[in-house]
Amino acid sequence: VILILDFGGQYTQLIARRIREANVFCEIVPYNIKPDEIKAKNPKGIVLSGGPSSVYTKNAPICDNAIFNLGYPILGICYGAQLMTKSLGGKVISAPVREYGKTEVILNNNTPLFKGIEKETMCWMSHTDQIELPPADFKVIASTANCPIAAIADVDRKLYSVQFHPEVIHTPKGNEIIRNFLFEVCDCSADWTMDSLIEQTVKEIRKKVNGHKVVCALSGGVDSSVAAVLVNRAIHEQLVCIFVDNGLLRKNEGDIVVETFKRNFDMNIIRVDAKDRFLEKLKGITDPEEKRKIIGNEFIEVFKEEAKKIGGVKYLVQGTLYPDVIESGSPVAATIKSHHNVGGLPEDIGFELIEPLKMLFKDEVRQVGRELGIHEEILNRQPFPGPGLAVRILGEITEEKLGILREADNIVLREMKKHGWYNRVWQSFAVLLNVKSVGVMGDERTYEYPIILRIVESDDGMTADWVRIPYDILEDISTSIINEVYGVNRVLYDITSKPPATIEWE
Ligand code: XMP
Repeated sequence: VILILDFGGQYTQLIARRIREANVFCEIVPYNIKPDEIKAKNPKGIVLSGGPSSVYTKNAPICDNAIFNLGYPILGICYGAQLMTKSLGGKVISAPVREYGKTEVILNNNTPLFKGIEKETMCWMSHTDQIELPPADFKVIASTANCPIAAIADVDRKLYSVQFHPEVIHTPKGNEIIRNFLFEVCDCSADWTMDSLIEQTVKEIRKKVNGHKVVCALSGGVDSSVAAVLVNRAIHEQLVCIFVDNGLLRKNEGDIVVETFKRNFDMNIIRVDAKDRFLEKLKGITDPEEKRKIIGNEFIEVFKEEAKKIGGVKYLVQGTLYPDVIESGSPVAATIKSHHNVGGLPEDIGFELIEPLKMLFKDEVRQVGRELGIHEEILNRQPFPGPGLAVRILGEITEEKLGILREADNIVLREMKKHGWYNRVWQSFAVLLNVKSVGVMGDERTYEYPIILRIVESDDGMTADWVRIPYDILEDISTSIINEVYGVNRVLYDITSKPPATIEWE
């Protein structure tokens, strides 16, 4: 394993991804990790991430100095480079010229870190401080016009620092630099593959479960699907998946999910038709937060009841991913947590957790899913919120409105797929407004609902922008909705980014 000490840099997760793409396992750990904890993990090497601080500010995150004397190879990146320099007796200054962006760099490719890379290449710089004087025994191994000390090394002790960011794509040889660190400096072997990961996880699950019963809330989303299939592979006989149909799902969704997993993976799935319960509770409710609360609580109730019926359940499968784990353990991570995660189960629900994906990033989860034989159609699904169509119907939820939105939503997805745009965007869906407007159809005056189209691009759902979708696709969607969905006479396109708007309408 390679350990990445996280100093709060925006690219820390990217470093992890690059290392894993080289088939080497790595973990992101808090910067203040104790030397003993590091030793216990027996790493092949350590990376110090970038970060927003200056090593000279008062509360700057600083790692234990003893880490530099443990004998592990270390690569400092940006802030990590400055910290290594200062910790080992060198000097860091505020740069006379701030550097930001692509910069030409001259490398000394006689050092293992830059082996096989041409001397002159480009790198991505983003810093206000820089190294003025390397620590004793360090040599300068790279420089740019504005940053004479762009990288330093103590080759004998295997300590390296780079001011630029090898983990971003704007450093074209960055991957090779990271690979050199892994394979030339740390002597890693590239044996972390999805195959071996699945095999090992299956073994661990079997050992942990040890004959007990396990439940899983299957939603058909990527994470819960991959988690369920993985656990199913390990302990098929003991696993029961619970699929709650809350009546707020998309067209045919329940049938598709339940059929697919039964047919392809022979899974034990209990499908709970709880539509009436949910709609009854939602009657007359118009406040968005109240709707969310009702749906979230009802889901937990239904799930608990079903698990009780099964009896003797000890474990619950959760599709927790690595970014959540990192954020909850980090003293420096940005604390913009998802504000509403309706559709999940609380940790104190009374079962012990099995979290088979908790060391994986989203794209790795998809890879695991692929290896397990899950269809691309499921692996590439757009996110769908736990409260389902309820957060896309403004005002009271009724069967009539659900029927209209379900049809409109289905057309949006169909047309997006037909035009090859479904997988190019983060989400594309329809929203039903709680107003009516006048239209004309044939010789008749109509007075019906409008549908809002929401099509956004985003990396993680935290920020988003509306997609500049070609007019002919918008036209196809609009015409199809008006022609095929009874009760709609207008289609509008939402051209607001997030922030200030949210992606969903409630
Ligand atoms: P907003 O509307 O806050 O949505 O911009 C950001 C992302 O989160 C999804 N979302 C949810 N997902 N349970 C979920 O599992 C929820 O309650 C929930 N609310 C919003 C939304 O679809 C978007 O991708």
